[in-house]
Amino acid sequence: MALQVKNFQEYKEAYQKSVENPALFWEEQANTFQWHRKWDKVLDWNFEEPNIKWFEGAKLNITENCIDRHLKDKANQTAIIWEPNDPNDETIRFTYQELHDEVCKTANMLKSLGIKKGDVICFYMPMVPQLAISVLACARIGAIHSVVFAGFSAKALADRINDASVKMVICTDGNNRGSKQIAVKKVVDEAIELGCPSVEKVLMLKHTHQEVNWNLNLDILWSQAIKEQPPVCPATVMDAEDVLFILYTSGSTGKPKGVVHTCAGYMVYTTFSFKNVFQYQEGDIYWCTADIGWITGHSYIIYGPLAAGATSIMFEGVPTYPDAGRFWEICDKYKVNQFYTAPTAIRALMAKGDAFVDKYNLDSLKVLGSVGEPINKEAWEWYDNKIGKNKCPIVDTWWQTETGGMMISNLAGVTPQKATFATLPLPGIQPCLVDTDGNEIEGNDVEGLLCIKHPWPSMLRTTYGDHERCKNTYFSVFKGKYFTGDGARRDKDGLYRIIGRVDDVINVSGHRLGTAEVENAINACDFVIESAVVGYPHEIKGQGIFAYVICNSNVDNDRLEPLVRDKVSKIIGPIAKPDKVLLVSGLPKTRSGKIMRRILRKIAEKEISNLGDISTLLNPEIVDEIIEKAGLKTVSS
Ligand code: WTA
Repeated sequence: MALQVKNFQEYKEAYQKSVENPALFWEEQANTFQWHRKWDKVLDWNFEEPNIKWFEGAKLNITENCIDRHLKDKANQTAIIWEPNDPNDETIRFTYQELHDEVCKTANMLKSLGIKKGDVICFYMPMVPQLAISVLACARIGAIHSVVFAGFSAKALADRINDASVKMVICTDGNNRGSKQIAVKKVVDEAIELGCPSVEKVLMLKHTHQEVNWNLNLDILWSQAIKEQPPVCPATVMDAEDVLFILYTSGSTGKPKGVVHTCAGYMVYTTFSFKNVFQYQEGDIYWCTADIGWITGHSYIIYGPLAAGATSIMFEGVPTYPDAGRFWEICDKYKVNQFYTAPTAIRALMAKGDAFVDKYNLDSLKVLGSVGEPINKEAWEWYDNKIGKNKCPIVDTWWQTETGGMMISNLAGVTPQKATFATLPLPGIQPCLVDTDGNEIEGNDVEGLLCIKHPWPSMLRTTYGDHERCKNTYFSVFKGKYFTGDGARRDKDGLYRIIGRVDDVINVSGHRLGTAEVENAINACDFVIESAVVGYPHEIKGQGIFAYVICNSNVDNDRLEPLVRDKVSKIIGPIAKPDKVLLVSGLPKTRSGKIMRRILRKIAEKEISNLGDISTLLNPEIVDEIIEKAGLKTVSS
């Protein structure tokens, strides 16, 4: 089994070894997996092109490592527990044997529908067990999965389908979300109508049993296609560097990019990090509340936990249905040992009051985890006191879609923990801080831009269909380093604290959105001339979206707000709806025409005492007008 460090000394030794001889360190980890053929070379890399290859020459299938190899001794152990949206509905459990059979049947169904190695399948599916199963079924036959969070709009879905020339879309009829039922197939229909020429089939699983439109040329019913599929399907043998999946994420520019992850390195690292960060022990029940539509769900609901032979819970619903005690009810119901969620959920539940927690015992919990955004002290302490009863380590895991796995985090109970600090890098991860010129900032008690100096097995290999973009975004900013887009501080003891994004990415409730992406959506309103979007501190969401909008007609602010929110919801999805919309007559610009976001950010933060020098602006007078419109002071004051 993969290395699990047990104390600080062992961590230090493992870390040292991983830096001194990365190839040897990762080779030892890789040796604990099942291969059809082992590698010729552990690592080959340069960050210039970039060209990164781990375990080149090796052959494997990740699903044999996530499923088949556990059948010897864990065939009857639960692999996945599915908790439905409605607590009165039945739990569904899959043992490793049942998971094997379901994945094989599904893989055979996909084959019977013409899916072959290398084809891209897009998932637009809520948190049903078949999502995890069919993602694994793709991996079983070497098809590439591209999971799109089922809250994205038809337009966003169509863009992602077309970017990767998707051959098949898999969806449900609808989605249960708290007291609401949401249409899913309808959104796929709309996306197809927008034009998705590569799509040959839409495979639909009946879930909510709502009415749907049926296109005889395209649509296929899951329940029919899966009938009589045999529960055995030989795994397609993959090269270490074959693509496992694409996952779209937002960046500084308007168009989301498809982050590409490959088979072997991703498998080795997600398993290693899962076992070490959470200190998972045989028989533990682990629950990550993320949606599989995001990287956290890929790496730490499906691949990492299953490859480690864990029992992983998948939850269909929302934290506040039927009430704000739902998470804690589920923790008690299944005796959850490791619980992993996002600060935004912690803050939202904290705001509902302690009565929802006090009803529950929570004594099975051993480790708490946080991911997706910086966790503030208040939320950290509430999590520690009320949920962990001051006896559970809290792992604050910093990582990204691009990193594939957790990068900087304390290891539960093993390495030092400090509130609001991600703390130390995992073995194999070499972070550094640089200044804006790219000079490395040495020593402690310093702040800078967070980069990674050396490859790690689960790092992105490219951005789908556009390698140049991958290079420019991550590897050209600071020569010889992977640039994360985050700013960080290293304290006097060398522990890292993530400050947040330094680029035009905002993190709303742990969801990444590009300001340009939101602006493009707002600008699609026919009365809008120009807009600028910035993030501002939001009590629950971490960051909220503030949109400054210039319009061509006499739309007043009250009418503008719903129109803008509606448009953004249609073009991207409800998660991107601006929290505040302000009608302005101009935007502060430099003489070269660049929007001064720094000023807009300060106004959105209501922090106008020090706006810096605005005299060099093309239109300094606009600043006072915006301040007044934002209700912060009058022009004459
Ligand atoms: C932020 C989510 C502070 C960060 C796994 C990063 C965090 C972005 C943390 C990636 C954390 C993630 N503390 N900030 N523990 N974890 N972030 O791609 O800004 O959805 O760059 O991956 O989330 O978001 P993504």
